Amino acid sequence: MSSLPSQLSSRIEAVAGVDPELRPATKPQFGHFQSNVALRLAKSEGRPPREVAASIVERLDLDDLCEPVEIAGPGFLNLRLRSSVLAAWVTDQLADPGAGIEPAAASEVVVIDYSAPNVAKQMHVGHLRTTIIGDCFHRVLTAVGHRVIPQNHIGDWGTQFGMLVEQILDEGTNPDDLDLAAMAALYQRASTHFKTDEEFATAARHRVVALQAGDTETRNIWRQLIESSLVGFNAAYARLGVLLTDDDLAGESTYNDDLAVVAEELESTGAAVIDDGALCVFVEGFNAPMIVRKRDGGFGYAATDLAAVRHRVRDLHADRMVYVTDARQADHFAQVFAVCRKAGYLPEDVVAEHVGYGMVLGQDGKPFKTREGTAVPLTDLLDAAEERAAPPVALAAIKYADLSTGINKDYVFDVDRMVQTTGNTGPYLQYAHARMAQVLRRAEADGLGEQRVVTVLEEPAEQQLALLLSRFGETVTAVARDLQPHKLCTYLYELAGALSVFYEQCPVLKSEGEVRTSRLALCATTKKVLARGLDLLGIAAPDRM
Ligand code: ARG
Repeated sequence: MSSLPSQLSSRIEAVAGVDPELRPATKPQFGHFQSNVALRLAKSEGRPPREVAASIVERLDLDDLCEPVEIAGPGFLNLRLRSSVLAAWVTDQLADPGAGIEPAAASEVVVIDYSAPNVAKQMHVGHLRTTIIGDCFHRVLTAVGHRVIPQNHIGDWGTQFGMLVEQILDEGTNPDDLDLAAMAALYQRASTHFKTDEEFATAARHRVVALQAGDTETRNIWRQLIESSLVGFNAAYARLGVLLTDDDLAGESTYNDDLAVVAEELESTGAAVIDDGALCVFVEGFNAPMIVRKRDGGFGYAATDLAAVRHRVRDLHADRMVYVTDARQADHFAQVFAVCRKAGYLPEDVVAEHVGYGMVLGQDGKPFKTREGTAVPLTDLLDAAEERAAPPVALAAIKYADLSTGINKDYVFDVDRMVQTTGNTGPYLQYAHARMAQVLRRAEADGLGEQRVVTVLEEPAEQQLALLLSRFGETVTAVARDLQPHKLCTYLYELAGALSVFYEQCPVLKSEGEVRTSRLALCATTKKVLARGLDLLGIAAPDRM
């Protein structure tokens, strides 16, 4: 469905010659939308703004959509949609399987790199954020018609596996029996061992070489560590209700065979040069070059990311790539993208974006840590919320808290506030949805059946609710473009607010005739938009609470 403001915009643009930059009106007395197009044109044309406004209005024919256009103050255009237009729109929205979401003009292949926990380590509060945010992007971009390819770039390679495998052999531990917590403990023992026992450290270093050379025993243990970690990761994904599956796994190790090729390509094109024995790429604006291959011949995290970009563009045909990690990796990705542009791995027409999220803070305003000073395991957070509410509500609380603050901001993990059914919380929105489900159930029981047509929008509260419903599509489009889910949260919160004003001021089941059937259809559309909106955030919308 093409949104009402976009229909209005194109009509005004046809007359004014420029984008009217329509904005929602700041006050109800200004109508529904406002444009400052006359003020902008007046400047360039050197004419009084009100005169420009009058000449636009004279040539403009919006009668089928709007009440007569008003010129306000210095020359603003105030537009008010006709009630009949809003009513027809909402009726269409109720019938539309997409609930009024506008399909993107062109469908793109969007690679989203998110979650990416590390093998043999606990998933922690940071992985909670990337997993929730990435899942929301996945849902929103899919909803507007893009093809999303999730890439779970798990940390399954690196020198740490030398000491982990060595520790397992040293202890005689069976890596099959380890859960994530036991593996994290193993990790601790291995690193202490590595620091305190020179002989062990040497053996661990040899083990890294054996791993890289493909030694069977070493590789088998390494693979078992990955398998056992995946059991833990998948349990967390199932609990979180996210869309990731094993098909989305593309860990660091999948690029092993590409690393030498990348180094060779970069060197032969001159993009990379040998500097002090290391293969480096210099790009402007960074303090240090990007090291592709270390002096000892080893490749690191950065080289793997270059290979990943190359693969995603060449083989996955990405039009857009989105990386969701901790904000502290912003520089790393800026440099990866710059190097890839220089190397020709990232053509101009492919968009690459890093979305860095802020930290999760404890009640004391400091980074959320366990008593031992390590990051809080993700499962502990879920447990804490589930102590206070049923699982679907607890999840709604956590996800909404995470998505409703700007992604780049830190937020306080205040579980008691998050699970409240009042205020700007996930459970509040679930509750608004369940309340509509209840109204519709009662209507059904009263023999009123399913109402699908909105005809009457006389009351201001009805109009306001309908107007907000009509804005769902634009909101989703904006989130797909700007990757700011908090805008969808704000929208849904406003919608739920308008719903409760409507419900207070306009009797539904106690009204009669056409007013009642129209109001029931309005309730049904609101229920549908709340459910669809929550689903885009990865939040369930139960019919009863
Ligand atoms: N494993 C990393 C971490 O836990 C995140 C990886 C992000 N993705 C990437 N392509 N580098 O911080």
